[in-house]
Amino acid sequence: MADPRKSCECHAMVAVSCGARGTDATQSNVCQSTVHRSWIAKTFHWIVAGVFAPPQTGARDAHSVPPNRKRLRELTRSRKRTASRVGLVVAIGVLDAAIAQTKPARPVSSDQVRRGEYLARAADCISCHTANGGAPYAGGLRLDTPFGYMLTPNITPDPDTGIGRWSANDFYRALHDGVNKRGADMYPTMPYDFYTRITRADIDAIFAYLRTVKPERNAVDVNHLDFPFDIRMSMIAWRELYFTKGTYTPDPAKTASWNRGAYLVEGLGHCSACHSPRNLLGGFEKDKDFTGAGIDGWFALNLTSDVTTGLGAWTVNDIATYLKTGAGKTTPVGPMAEVVRNSLRYLTDTDLKAMAEYLKSIPADSSVLADRNGPDPTRAQGAALYSDHCSGCHQANGRGISGVFPQLAGNGVVLASDPANIFKVVLGGIPALGKYTAMPSFASQLDDHQIADIANYVRTSWGNTAAPDATASMAAKFRRP
Ligand code: HEC
Ligand code: HEC
Ligand code: HEC
Repeated sequence: MADPRKSCECHAMVAVSCGARGTDATQSNVCQSTVHRSWIAKTFHWIVAGVFAPPQTGARDAHSVPPNRKRLRELTRSRKRTASRVGLVVAIGVLDAAIAQTKPARPVSSDQVRRGEYLARAADCISCHTANGGAPYAGGLRLDTPFGYMLTPNITPDPDTGIGRWSANDFYRALHDGVNKRGADMYPTMPYDFYTRITRADIDAIFAYLRTVKPERNAVDVNHLDFPFDIRMSMIAWRELYFTKGTYTPDPAKTASWNRGAYLVEGLGHCSACHSPRNLLGGFEKDKDFTGAGIDGWFALNLTSDVTTGLGAWTVNDIATYLKTGAGKTTPVGPMAEVVRNSLRYLTDTDLKAMAEYLKSIPADSSVLADRNGPDPTRAQGAALYSDHCSGCHQANGRGISGVFPQLAGNGVVLASDPANIFKVVLGGIPALGKYTAMPSFASQLDDHQIADIANYVRTSWGNTAAPDATASMAAKFRRP
């Protein structure tokens, strides 16, 4: 059996490839996956919808003020001229170049830089802004969309090809408003619809940290989208409909740690970008937040407090441990493994507990869960196949062996409203992770019908009450990369 970890530290089945990143522990291996790409594919469906949909004024937050684009562009033009005239040379980590254009230089403290590094981890900037095998933050990761592709920009402090000439204000505007230094609207492939909630002080700290990253000369031509999506103006409708800028405001009725958790989950962590379903126009329906959503063939599980499909049966400590190590009531087997590896494992226990506290407060909702169908005639077949191929490890009663083989009874991966992850796991296997050994791939031993039967069997056995809605054609789909 091929060991997927030979080719890459990450999961082969997420079609990942990653390069060695040198020896610096803080910039350790970064694994890229297609995760963010498919998210982007989704985004572009929204853009199409946004381009052709009439602006809906009601969709905007009453407190938000539409950005005065004209004024912003004028400001940008004049600032750009100043920058080229002055011809600034940036002393990395010491001078905030563009503030120097307008205000006296503000020294950057090492404390601020350290905080910025931590926050950049929490926001997982590195996953998108690093190409496979490329220098950290030097950009160039290809994000495919159905309408052409984008390459992520270089955000190292190189003055010509990176953000070396950006001011703290430019940087704040990019993260908070989604407008780049040239004054153009950015595509929401850059998750500024979440980053807008980050405070000014924290964005400044991330900026200070990025100034200390090794400048890399890497000119990236970002936009390779097809007409008309290559025109940034096409973003205006999307923004009108779905983008509400505004910094996170703490809820005084809640504890400080709840607020910290909300800030990390809703802002920096952009967890809902994967875990919340979107409507046809690509907007989030507030009442369905965190109920789970498909992403790159995987299913980002329900994070509400629903007892069977969500985190209802997890304690705050269970959740915090999962986020830190990947070990828990389920194990991250797909995109979430990458989030843990590149981002969450660097966070403090206090912050992870705060995130867990916030997640635990999300009311139970299993509305995405499909209705349960009647008994399935293929159940006996599924039971026999399970007994032959799976029970040796996961046990006939689905309880697994504590610490060795995860239990499938009451397992969120198995119970998810979408059976995608079962197909992925059975077809692709799982490399050893945390406390667990590897799980073999069954792609060559089982055909599509058999896999669907097993999936339905595990979804409906030992008290599991997910819909037996796995089909052979779904399995066939997951066989093809
Ligand atoms: C999901 C992928 C993704 C993540 C995560 C992400 N970015 Fe981006 N970022 C992009 C893409 C794509 C663009 C290009 C957007 C455009 O030009 O419309 C971009 C653009 C930018 C730009 C503008 C650069 C330029 O030259 O125009 C900055 C600055 C930036 N990102 C900083 C960050 C920081 C800081 C973080 C973490 C807090 C971050 N990004 C996280 C994908 C991402
Ligand atoms: C040789 C032992 C072994 C066999 C046989 C096996 N598994 Fe697994 N399975 C594992 C291990 C070990 C893990 C956890 C791997 C990890 O997370 O690193 C796992 C994980 C899983 C998961 C993900 C659970 C989670 O919490 O993320 C599912 C679903 C699963 N197996 C289903 C099956 C099915 C269905 C079969 C039969 C077709 C099967 N397994 C056969 C060892 C096995
Ligand atoms: C790139 C997409 C993506 C992002 C971003 C993401 N997740 Fe996930 N998450 C997933 C997927 C997919 C799964 C299930 C399959 C797997 O393990 O990859 C998952 C699983 C989980 C689980 C396990 C749930 C269960 O019932 O077993 C938890 C808890 C979780 N994520 C929390 C978070 C938190 C908190 C954040 C934000 C800091 C986050 N996720 C960000 C994709 C994502």
